[in-house]
Amino acid sequence: MTPRGRHFFANPGPTNIPDSIQQAITHHTVDFNGPDFLAVYDACIAGLKRVLRTQQHLFMYTGSGHAAWEATLTNLLSPGDRILVIETGHFSESWGRMATDLGLEVETLPADWRRGVDYAALRTALAADGAHRLKAVCAVHNETSTGMTLDLARIRALLDETKHPALFLVDTISSLGSLDYRHDEWGVDAAVGGSQKGLMLPVGFSFTAVSEKGFRAHEASHLPKHYFHWSRMLERRHRSFIGTVPIALFYGLRESLRLIEEEGLDNVIARHHRLAEAVRRCVRQWSGNDGPQLFCLSPERVSDSVSSILVPEGSDAEALRRRVAGMNVALGGGLGRLGGKVFRIGHLGDLNEPMILGILGATEIGLRLEGMPHAPGGVEAAMAYLAETAG
Ligand SMILES: Cc1ncc(COP(=O)(O)O)c(C=O)c1O
Repeated sequence: MTPRGRHFFANPGPTNIPDSIQQAITHHTVDFNGPDFLAVYDACIAGLKRVLRTQQHLFMYTGSGHAAWEATLTNLLSPGDRILVIETGHFSESWGRMATDLGLEVETLPADWRRGVDYAALRTALAADGAHRLKAVCAVHNETSTGMTLDLARIRALLDETKHPALFLVDTISSLGSLDYRHDEWGVDAAVGGSQKGLMLPVGFSFTAVSEKGFRAHEASHLPKHYFHWSRMLERRHRSFIGTVPIALFYGLRESLRLIEEEGLDNVIARHHRLAEAVRRCVRQWSGNDGPQLFCLSPERVSDSVSSILVPEGSDAEALRRRVAGMNVALGGGLGRLGGKVFRIGHLGDLNEPMILGILGATEIGLRLEGMPHAPGGVEAAMAYLAETAG
C-alpha cells in the first residue's frame, strides 16, 4: 500500500525539494541559446557565485558530484602528479581512489574517523615536502559519512605558513548552502559542489569554482579531458557545459537562489546550526543506558548538515532504518566500513522544527520497537532546546 502522509526524508542528500522548486523545474523546454533562458542562466551563475562567496571562475557539468570530482582532478593535474588527500571518511577515500584511477600518485594523511585529522600532522607533512612534490591538497569540507567538518581556514593558514604552493582542492558537496563556506577568503583553488544537497534541487548538475591560480594550473595540466575541459567551455556562450544545458534545473536553481537570498545566507547557516544542535541534544540523551551516540567525538568538528549516529555494540543500524522506514521516514545508512554500525540523520536543505522533531520521534519509536538500548527523552531534549532558542 502507498504509505499515507508526507514522506519524511532525512537522508543527507539528495535532500527535500521545496514545492516552489519542484514547480519551477516543470518549466516547459526553451531554447537554451535563446535570450530568455540566457537571462535566467546568467542570473543563476551570478547567484551561485554569491553562495560560494567567489568572484572567480565557475564551471558546470551535467552529472552528480563524482563528475565534478573528476573534472577538478583532470583539469588541474598531470599524469603522475602527487596529491595529498586528508582522510576524513568514506568520501575522502572515494575521491582518493578516483585520483589513483586517473593516474595520480595519492598520499593519504591518515586520521581517526571519529576524531578527525591532527592539524599538526598536516603541518609536518607540508613542511617535510621541501621539494614541493605535492601538487594539491584535497579536503572534504563536510564528510557526509561521519558527520565531521574540516577547518578550511586553518588548512589555508598551514599552506601559507609552510609556504607550500600546492593547490587547495575542497569538496563542498554537503556543506555548500548549509555551512559557512568562503571560497575567495579561504584561498581555495577549486571547490566542488552539487545540486542535490544545500541547494535543494534534484541530482543533475555539479560544478567547480576555480581561483586564478587554479585556472593557470589548468592551462598547464595534461590529464586527458574533453567534456570537462574548462578552456573549451570558455569558448562557448555559456562558458560552462559542453553539450546541452540542463534547462529545467536552471529554473529550479533560480528559485533555489531566490529562497536562499530571501532567508539570507547567514540565516540559512544559523538555521542549520540550530536544527543540528537539536538533533545532537536528542542523541546525547539517547546515549544514556549505553545507547546510540554521535559518531564524531570532537565537539568542535561536528557537522551542522548531517549527524552520524553509532548504534550500540551488537545492535543493527539497518534493522532500525527498516523499522523507521515503515513509518515513512528515510534515515541515511552507514557508508563503506560504517555499514550497519551507524545511521545518519541528514539535517540540511529545506527543513524546519516539526520536520526534525518528526524524524527524531519516529527514530525514538524505532529504538523502542527494536529493543535497542537507549535513554528515552531524546525528543524532549530536542524540543527543550528548540523552545529555548526560538526567535
Ligand atoms: C562529501 C561528498 N562528496 C562527494 C559525494 C559524491 O557525490 P555524488 O553522489 O553526487 O556523485 C557525496 C555524496 O553524497 C558527498 O556527500
